[in-house]
Amino acid sequence: MDDTPVVNRPLTASVVGGGVGGQLSAQALSNSPNFALRAVADRNERVREQIATQYRGVRTFSSHEMMFTECPTDVVCVSTYPSSHEEVALAALQLPLAGILVEKPLGDTYAAGRRILDAIEGRRLPVVVPHGLLARATPLDVLQCVRRGCIGVLSLVEVQCAHLDIINAGIYWVNFFVHLIGDEPIHSVLAAYSGPRNLDSERGRLEVVD
Ligand SMILES: NC(=O)c1ccc[n+]([C@@H]2O[C@H](COP(=O)([O-])OP(=O)(O)OC[C@H]3O[C@@H](n4cnc5c(N)ncnc54)[C@H](O)[C@@H]3O)[C@@H](O)[C@H]2O)c1
Repeated sequence: MDDTPVVNRPLTASVVGGGVGGQLSAQALSNSPNFALRAVADRNERVREQIATQYRGVRTFSSHEMMFTECPTDVVCVSTYPSSHEEVALAALQLPLAGILVEKPLGDTYAAGRRILDAIEGRRLPVVVPHGLLARATPLDVLQCVRRGCIGVLSLVEVQCAHLDIINAGIYWVNFFVHLIGDEPIHSVLAAYSGPRNLDSERGRLEVVD
């Protein structure tokens, strides 16, 4: 750990999970003068090799435990699958962190997400959850337009999520829907799903209930 006061230097940073989400954080950290990307942990050897080639001088580890012990940083980005966010985030919070990023969805259940936020709040740390949909101009325009009544009375909202998995991408649509309807009463919700009835992988668990 660098003991220089954090106000006088870039914050050191590490990423757990070097896939699509983790690469976005690694790239942003490495492009920023305010951060120094020090390490990435991923249990996939190919990912570690790719990171080592792409980011010269960045250390790679096969587990977050090893990385936190050997290369603790001021900031940790938790970019594994939602089912392991809680374990990794709580382990990261044992470090003297200056801040933490936890990918959306915060956890694979509401309870897991709540526990992560409670633990972060308990440490009084700033947290970032990358969630671009409600920060972009176009969806914000749509929200304002609908609220101003530009399209008349809102009577139907149809969401289609064809090419992205419901756990990692569905959170965007649920969140957008909640902001779109505000306090308006909902008459009914219809969901149609055409995928496996039971899915139990690291990326998430899904059970279709009739
Ligand atoms: N904010 C965004 O724009 C954005 C984009 C894509 C994904 N995500 C989020 O990032 C998270 C990961 O999704 P992804 O699409 O990057 O998945 P991915 O499959 O592309 O990558 C996940 C990586 O994490 C590694 N991994 C998994 N568990 C691990 C563990 N316990 N320790 C070390 N490494 C581990 C895997 O080997 C893999 O390389 C999800 O929460 C997803 O919603 C966010």
